[in-house]
Amino acid sequence: MSKQRFDVSQCQTAVSISNRVHWIGALDPSLRTFDIILKTANGTTYNSYLVRGSEGVAVIDTVKEQFSDEFFRRLESVADYDEIKVIVLNHLEPDHSGALPELMRRAPQAQLYISQKAKGMLKALLKHDDFNFKTVLTDDTVSLGDLTIRFLHTPYLHWPDTQCAYIEEENILFSGDIFGCHFCDNRLFNDLVGDFRFSFEYYYAHIMRPFKKYVIRALDLIEPLELDIIAPTHGPILCDRPREYVKRYRDLSSSKLHTEIQDNEKSLLIFYISSYGNTAKMAEAVYDGSSEIHGVRVSLYDLEGSEVGPFVDLIEEADGIVFGSPTINGDAVKPVWDLLSSLAVINTRGKIGAVFGSFGWSGEAVRMVEDRMRGLKMDLPVTGYRVKLIPSEDELENCRVLGRDIANALIDQSMETFVEKENVLAS
Ligand code: FEO
Repeated sequence: MSKQRFDVSQCQTAVSISNRVHWIGALDPSLRTFDIILKTANGTTYNSYLVRGSEGVAVIDTVKEQFSDEFFRRLESVADYDEIKVIVLNHLEPDHSGALPELMRRAPQAQLYISQKAKGMLKALLKHDDFNFKTVLTDDTVSLGDLTIRFLHTPYLHWPDTQCAYIEEENILFSGDIFGCHFCDNRLFNDLVGDFRFSFEYYYAHIMRPFKKYVIRALDLIEPLELDIIAPTHGPILCDRPREYVKRYRDLSSSKLHTEIQDNEKSLLIFYISSYGNTAKMAEAVYDGSSEIHGVRVSLYDLEGSEVGPFVDLIEEADGIVFGSPTINGDAVKPVWDLLSSLAVINTRGKIGAVFGSFGWSGEAVRMVEDRMRGLKMDLPVTGYRVKLIPSEDELENCRVLGRDIANALIDQSMETFVEKENVLAS
């Protein structure tokens, strides 16, 4: 079918990407929520690919189980099951592995290739003991005669098992969820579909952003490749300027604050909200104390004055975060919870944290916020500090001590990191 005039929803056959590579996926245009939390204004696609080499056929990824019929019809339009020599599952999440058991039943001679980290998931997800599979690492290859599939280990994008597959002779990268987005358009190719930039950015922000350091490692493997086409498992096939999408991932995964916070500085953010000014007084004292410590750049923010989004960006780049919340009706207040609940899209593991707050009669907020921060894998080296109603001068001095302690913990952490690096270099 000609790329220029096709509407893939009108056919149940494979779509040519190149002479030897076909799209055999499925369309899910009516989906509006993916994985409970992701909005999908345009539905999604489950992209699967078929590669024909001189010595056999490979199927790369399958589709969600409910879309198996569409997948098999497209597959059967370009290959017989007994031609299938190789099945690659770049990622075992059910939206890509749903049709795998039936495909293995129809093509029992095929060898399944998965990442090493997928091994433990295979049985748990698919409830099959008898799959014939091999695990692969970066630069392992599988030959289809005149085509060679090379693997790239790209874990956590977005499950631990994820990998990419690359065909050098075609300059095509089968990238799994990486560079994907939930955007169903019957024209399938990025130079034909509607404007999907918002969906690409949204997908990165919710799926990839918490794993930025793994994105950067994956880009280090992907950027040296010759790239004519990137074929992800969701959304448009990136045949027009594919490297622009690689560059965008590099930009999104790079530090935004490098011009503000120096390499030799630690960034400490103090967020507070206050009903009667008491928690605000504590916040200013924590700020004063932490600002005394050389090498720590301290910033103070009243949560009442901003939307959550910009603060999430700041927290992603910060080394330490302190929250100040009063207790109202036995709870921390909503702006604090709103910010904390927005942090699931970033990686907060190992950031230093502390909590303080004024209370009237029960004072649960400090402990509750501490529990949440521990749940986000932050380190809380300083016990939270509560003050009943108006802080006295002695109590404000305790807040300054808390500020100094948390800032010193940031410096100590960087010293530990330095010593660890020195030890690695010496070993
Ligand atoms: Fe599209 Fe992470 O599965």
